[in-house]
Amino acid sequence: MPKDMIDLAAPVERAFLVAIDTGDDPGWTAEESISELASLAETAGAEVVGAEWQNRRHVDPNFYVGKGKVDELVAAKSETGYTVLVADDELSPAQQRALEEAVKTKVIDRSRLILDIFAQHAQTHEGRLQVELAQLEYQLPRLTKMWTHLSRTGGGIGTRGPGESQLETDRRLVRERIKKFKERVEQVAEQRRTASRARDRRLFPTVAIVGYTNAGKSTLLNALVGQVVAKAEDKLFATLDPTSRQVKLGDGQTAIVTDTVGFIHKLPHQLVDAFRATLEEVTRADVLVEIVDASDRHFAEHRATVQTVLEELGAGDKPRFVAFNKADLIEAAARNGDTPAPAIAGQVLISAKTGYGLETLKAELSALLASLWVDIDVAVPYKAGELLARVRERGTVELDYRASDVRVTGRVTPPLAGELEAVAAKWRESLRNGDGPEG
Ligand code: GTP
Repeated sequence: MPKDMIDLAAPVERAFLVAIDTGDDPGWTAEESISELASLAETAGAEVVGAEWQNRRHVDPNFYVGKGKVDELVAAKSETGYTVLVADDELSPAQQRALEEAVKTKVIDRSRLILDIFAQHAQTHEGRLQVELAQLEYQLPRLTKMWTHLSRTGGGIGTRGPGESQLETDRRLVRERIKKFKERVEQVAEQRRTASRARDRRLFPTVAIVGYTNAGKSTLLNALVGQVVAKAEDKLFATLDPTSRQVKLGDGQTAIVTDTVGFIHKLPHQLVDAFRATLEEVTRADVLVEIVDASDRHFAEHRATVQTVLEELGAGDKPRFVAFNKADLIEAAARNGDTPAPAIAGQVLISAKTGYGLETLKAELSALLASLWVDIDVAVPYKAGELLARVRERGTVELDYRASDVRVTGRVTPPLAGELEAVAAKWRESLRNGDGPEG
């Protein structure tokens, strides 16, 4: 964790929350948003000692809340002894400073809190790089005179340029660091792409589990695989690093299923940008399983947030199956897990915890993947034996072994079809060039 980050894991942090309701956010009242902010603060390790919210037409440009509310926040400090004030929206640097001066203690915002949780939970090299990049992007406009430590960590480069103030030097150093981090994130992303390409050569269709934080993504992946492969916890953003596993769906279909980072209302844009490499798993998947915590009374708003983030990633229109999870909390039939669950057009009620509905989910998913299969009718040379073996194993095809080639007809997954078409085109080309059948 960089030196300047507030360590909310320290047991002494007593958090007081503040929100405003402008009525601009359909489905979310300030009170509801505050209750989510409280879960975030607790996940970060803080103790929530109180909250205030206010209905206002606009955010106050100076203090975020109105002047009267600022006085109440000052009074609340003597009553509760809070050590950090957490605002439910991203504050401008000026609002943050003004509030800090008024309440005489640290003030952070929702974005900062989410960034801190990400920093605590990132485990892999890639995850840490992406979080650090997002933190730097967040910090850049908030640099103040206090940031002189940067020049020390920067070693030689920290020397002030001619006529440059310390603040300008700091800004320049942060920009340089951002550039370096972006390059490193891109390098790691490239390694991930190479690894995924190797994985895709096995040509299983890919499924990404997406959903609001804490919906049960990791629990579902573990249940589908039949063993614990991803950390499932009653914490927001327990999983940041994607985990992919082969899952047998029945009907002879196997898919690669990936569990990835959860989404949340007001997800800081710096994080969406920085996590694009990780989220490529979502954009590259053939099918999405959107998992929804059906026991949460805000599930409709959660779905809207998920849709917004997916659209931002360019994955809003991908074929999708919706799994309403935590059925055991709302339906007695789901508690022991052995009653079959019905599926209705692209949706199923499941309990990743008890196993209820998982067979239905697998069957529906298998059918959805099969519907994406494409018709094929191509001729390939005998030497494409390895590809033909895979096609036989993973497609519904007929192979006609003719004198000089093999005719393949039937239905296969889109990636297999692509590979077959490419081999067939090359084969036609070699025949046209008079290379003749090579066998
Ligand atoms: P993030 O990593 O925060 O994005 O969460 P996630 O979507 O991966 O959720 P995770 O699988 O960690 O589950 C969150 C909490 O919900 C855990 O405490 C799980 O035990 C619980 N949970 C998941 N599925 C079910 C379910 O079907 N029923 C019940 N009762 N609890 C569930």
